[in-house]
Amino acid sequence: MCGIVGYIGKKPALPILVSSLRRLEYRGYDSFGFFVLNRDSHFLLKKVGKISEWEEKLLKVSCQGNLGISHTRWATTGEVNEQNAHPHFDCNKEIFLVHNGIVENHQQLREKLIGEGHKFSSETDTEVFCHLIEKYFQGNLEEAVREALKEIKGNYAIAVISRKDPNKIVLATFGAPLLVGLSDGEYFIASDPAAIISYTRQVISLDDNEIAVVTPQNHFILKEKPIEQIDWEIKEAQKEGFSHFMLKEIFESPAVIQEAIRGRMDIERGLAVLGGLDQAWERLEKIERLIITGCGTARYAGMVGEYMLEEYAKIPTEVEVASEFRYRKPLLDEKTALLAISQSGETADTLEAVREAKRKGTLTLGLVNRVGSSIARETDAGVYNRAGLEIGVAATKSFVSQLTILALLTVSLGRKKDMSLVIGKRILEELSKLPQLAKRVLEQADYIKELAQKYSEYKNFIYLGRKYNYPIALEGALKLKEIAWKVHAEGVCGGEIKHGPIALLDEDFPVVCIAPSDSVYEKMRNAIEEVKSRNGKILAVATENNEEIKKLVDDVIYIPKTLEMLTPILSVIPLHLFAAYLGLELGLDIDKPRNLAKSVTVE
Ligand code: M6R
Repeated sequence: MCGIVGYIGKKPALPILVSSLRRLEYRGYDSFGFFVLNRDSHFLLKKVGKISEWEEKLLKVSCQGNLGISHTRWATTGEVNEQNAHPHFDCNKEIFLVHNGIVENHQQLREKLIGEGHKFSSETDTEVFCHLIEKYFQGNLEEAVREALKEIKGNYAIAVISRKDPNKIVLATFGAPLLVGLSDGEYFIASDPAAIISYTRQVISLDDNEIAVVTPQNHFILKEKPIEQIDWEIKEAQKEGFSHFMLKEIFESPAVIQEAIRGRMDIERGLAVLGGLDQAWERLEKIERLIITGCGTARYAGMVGEYMLEEYAKIPTEVEVASEFRYRKPLLDEKTALLAISQSGETADTLEAVREAKRKGTLTLGLVNRVGSSIARETDAGVYNRAGLEIGVAATKSFVSQLTILALLTVSLGRKKDMSLVIGKRILEELSKLPQLAKRVLEQADYIKELAQKYSEYKNFIYLGRKYNYPIALEGALKLKEIAWKVHAEGVCGGEIKHGPIALLDEDFPVVCIAPSDSVYEKMRNAIEEVKSRNGKILAVATENNEEIKKLVDDVIYIPKTLEMLTPILSVIPLHLFAAYLGLELGLDIDKPRNLAKSVTVE
C-alpha cells in the first residue's frame, strides 16, 4: 500500500533513501517524503507526485545526516496533498514517523488527543502515532512507541526517529511487512527487499507485535531472529532494455512457466512434485472440498483452477472473493482446505481469509510469489511461484505462473485420487511444451501493438469467454481498465451476453472474444454471431489454423494449440500485451496506473 525506507550508518542518508524509495514506487505513488536527522539540524521534505519525477533534483540536494526515513504513499485516510504526505510529526516537530497500514480507531484517538491539547497538522490516521508517542515520551523512544502501540487498533509498519533520543530508528509492525537489511556498520530498513538489494542481501523480517531498535552499531529485536539471504538478481529490479516493467514482465511469461515447472514434474510417472505441500499431505489426502481465495487477478487464476481441479482432480472446488470470505461466515471444517493465491503474499483481505480459516481448524495452503511474505508464513503449507520480482502494478507474469502451478496442483491432487497415469502424463507433457508456445505468442507483439493502435479510439469494451477462458475474459477486461484507465471494459461469460450486456452493443462497442478451438468453441461461435448481427466490432483470440473465424470477426490473434485446460496460459498473454500497448497509445504510465498500488495491505 505504501513503501517505507530507512537508513542509519556512516554514509549520507538522503541519496540512499532516494534511490531505494524509487524502487518501492509500485507500492504507492501519490506523494512522498523524507526526514534526515543531522547532529543539530534536520531535513524534511514532502511532495505530491512520483518520486521518480523528483529523483534528479533530490540527488543534488545538499543534506548532511546519516540517519533518515522516507515514504511513498498510496492514500487511504486524507486526500493527496503535502500535509498528508509522510513523514508525520508531533506538536513540537521532535518525533518523525512513516507508516504503512491503517489505524482503525484513529478518529477516537484524534479526538482524545486534541482534547488533551495536541495539535494535528494533517488529516491522516498516521498522525495519531506521533502524538501518542509524544504523550508517552520520557526520554526513551522505544518505550514511548511500546506504550503508544497499546492504544492502536489496525495494522501498521512504522519507522520512527526522535530528535530527543537521536542515533536510533525504532520500528514496529503488525500486519504489514518491514525488514531490516544488515551491512557493515550500517542498516537499511524497507517494506520490501527490492528497495535495498543493491546495498545488502542479508535481511531480518519483523513479525507482528515486534519492536526493533536499530542504531549504527547494532540492532535489537526482542526475539533472536534468523538472517535471511535474498537471492534475487539486481537485474530483476531493472527494466533491462524495455520501456516499462509491465512489458518486460509480460515478455518473461515463457521463463516463468519454465521456472514454475522446473524440477516439479515426473512425466514418466505422471506425477507433479510440489515439495512445499509435503508436510500437509496427510491432511490434504483427507479433504473433500477446496476453497480457493484471492483478490483481483489472483482470484481469476483461482477460477481457472476451479475448472481444472473439478474436471481433472475431481475435487469439489469453490472460489471466494477474499474480501467477502470472513464476513460471509463460511462453513469450514477439517475436511476442507483453503488455498490462498497472492503474488505479494501481503494482501490484507487474503491474509484475513487465511486467518479466518485457521481459526476454524481448516488446512490452509498458499500459492505465493514473494518468499517469506505474511501469507507464505502463516499458511500451513504451500507452493512458491518462483516468478521473480513483479514491479509493474498490473499482475501479468505472476498470473501466468499461478495458472501453471494450478495445473501442477491438479495433477498432484488428481493422481492421489483417480486420475490415470495417461492423463497425468498428458497434462505434464503439454505443460512442458508451454514455454516454447508462449514464446510463439509473444512473437506477435508488433501485430498486437498495431491492433491496440487500431482499437484505441474506442471507449468501451466487452471481453467474452467460456469455460476455462471465462476467467480470462475477466482478467483481460481488468487489465485493460486498470492500465488503459480511460477505457471501460467488462468481462462477461460467453453464454451471458444475451441475458443483458448485448443491449450495450453497437459499432462503437468492440468485443474481445476468447475462442480457442476447445469443447465450447461452437458455443463461443454462437456468441460471436450474436455480436456480429448487432454490428459489433470483434477482436478474437483463436487457435492457429482456425481459418473459419477470420470470416466471422474483424481481427484475430492466434495462439498455438494446447490442452483445453492449459489454453488460458496462452490466451491471456496477448490480452496482457493488448492492455499494455493500448495504455501506452493513450499516453498513460502503464507501470503505475492511476489510483492503484501493487500490494493492498489494508482491508
Ligand atoms: O498480491 P496479490 O496477488 O494478492 O494482489 C491481488 C490483487 O490486488 C491484484 O491481482 C490486482 O488485482 C492487480 N492490480 C491486478 O493487475
